[in-house]
Amino acid sequence: MVAASDFVGRDVITVGDFQRDEILFLLDAADRFEKGHGTPLAGRVIATLFFEPSTRTRLSFEAAIGRLGGHAIGFAEGGVSSQSKGESLSDTVRVVEGYSDLLLIRHPREGAARLAAEYVDCPVVNCGDGAHQHPTQTFLDLYTIRREVGRLDNLEVVFAGDLRYGRAVHSLVTVLALFDARITLVSPGFLRLPEEQLEALESLGVSYRETESLEEALPDADVLYMTRVQRERFTDPLEYERFKDAYRLDLETLTHAREDLAILHPLPRVTEIAPEVDNKPHAAYFRQAHYGVAVRKALLALLLGCADEVLK
Ligand code: NCD
Repeated sequence: MVAASDFVGRDVITVGDFQRDEILFLLDAADRFEKGHGTPLAGRVIATLFFEPSTRTRLSFEAAIGRLGGHAIGFAEGGVSSQSKGESLSDTVRVVEGYSDLLLIRHPREGAARLAAEYVDCPVVNCGDGAHQHPTQTFLDLYTIRREVGRLDNLEVVFAGDLRYGRAVHSLVTVLALFDARITLVSPGFLRLPEEQLEALESLGVSYRETESLEEALPDADVLYMTRVQRERFTDPLEYERFKDAYRLDLETLTHAREDLAILHPLPRVTEIAPEVDNKPHAAYFRQAHYGVAVRKALLALLLGCADEVLK
């Protein structure tokens, strides 16, 4: 049986740090935090160390902190921190640990959050490390799927777009193995899911197939997870130009989908979903961004051991 105390003081670096039952416990806690909570983080200070651009992740964390009565400190780009003077990440986090109770970190380098966690005793939450992982996005994606589709088990999930560099995809795709999903991967060959992720799916016994055609993938899908082509991860700008418009989901494409398909997207969207789709009941992506606050409230309160009042 999972208990709130199991979360206290933990780091959140990859989704693999959490068992299925723990994830379900977190999602149930998010339901409770969405309904109401008081100010369990009063007197707590949480640092947001964002060395890469962010709108949703940083602001929904800051909203969650503020709503729970806590206080957020931090910066929204590395250029305004002492990193620009040559300070190492390990020095920055050791210093900021002295100012705060928990560190939220986003960084362009894979493994940056793991490294930070080695230097500090307080919890560290990975808010995206390069093309590697984005575990809190995955928690809110699962929360969204459960809210929108009504269940997490035995779903047909289609991932489309940049499966090579998209860290939100990398986190979500392996967790779906815990819920017996059948997965379809839609991308041009250049943007395929990396080989080690495909091997992980195989070793977890996940049933998956790959195709370049979104139309072909859609008919049986319960969930479509659209993604942006990750311009900032390309070393060759011409390569980006070649693939940036690989897919565009519009009303015509949607004629291939079921009436009850849920469309998720971690956002930001560029051209991969036509605005005409936004008003369709399928379009869950703005609700998804909003659910992030409830999930992050629950996560912070659990990690800091302040969730008991709300969960009792
Ligand atoms: C994602 C990210 O930063 O990885 N955005 C987010 O956190 N909602 C996806 C993206 O940038 O495409």
